[in-house]
Amino acid sequence: MRKKIIAGNWKMNKNLEEGMGLVSEISNMLKDEYQGSALALIIPPFIHINAVSKLIADNSKLGLGAQNCSNHQSGAFTGEVSAEMLKSCGCTYVVIGHSERREYFNENNAWLAQKINAALASHLTPIYCCGETLAEREKEEHFTVLQKQISEGLFHLSAAQIQHVVIAYEPVWAIGTGKTASTAQAQEIHAFIRGLIAQKYSDAIAQEITIQYGGSVKPENAAELFAAADIDGALVGGAALQSRSFVDIIKAMA
Ligand code: 13P
Repeated sequence: MRKKIIAGNWKMNKNLEEGMGLVSEISNMLKDEYQGSALALIIPPFIHINAVSKLIADNSKLGLGAQNCSNHQSGAFTGEVSAEMLKSCGCTYVVIGHSERREYFNENNAWLAQKINAALASHLTPIYCCGETLAEREKEEHFTVLQKQISEGLFHLSAAQIQHVVIAYEPVWAIGTGKTASTAQAQEIHAFIRGLIAQKYSDAIAQEITIQYGGSVKPENAAELFAAADIDGALVGGAALQSRSFVDIIKAMA
């Protein structure tokens, strides 16, 4: 059985007080309302991680992730945060290669492969993001783009290592646009990604890898997406900034 994960990526939103309020509400609502087995991840800005860690310590339904980490272990890299630091502050997951990092911070696949290594070396589970732009989809290049992102970012890993990676398919044209990929479009890509893993490693390994969908996930479309055979959860942006909508998305996963 693959692990089902619903992650709330806050991006650069919420001051400390707002963030703590949001986490407390989510934690209380999950205790009262959610009996399912999915893991819900809070992915706040770095600076809130330690405080969130303390707040969720008594709730086994909630876990903690970071939005990024350095590709280096430690040293003279002013402004950077290492995977080891994140681990020591209570994180167990880290998002690597979000399309906003790829676009605005020029992170390429080779760079991201190093970040994957840094995360695994510190026993963090990387959530490796991939996805095509609108222009790439219109030119029907999406399969080629995804194949390149997955192979260059992940295929240096051993069979043992790849089993500790989560993949998130986030079509760039669906992020923050209100335009969700249809369930059929998302399922097609998830099955394609799982096929790539099966070809490179084995079918057994591919069947165990969690693949999340991200891009305008809301309470209204979550249940349909989660019913698809290869969609194992969601990476949620905007709808994770409100307790009611985030918890309703989690509840859509039985
Ligand atoms: P939205 O849910 O706001 O479209 O953002 C998706 C995302 O980028 C999550 O990482």
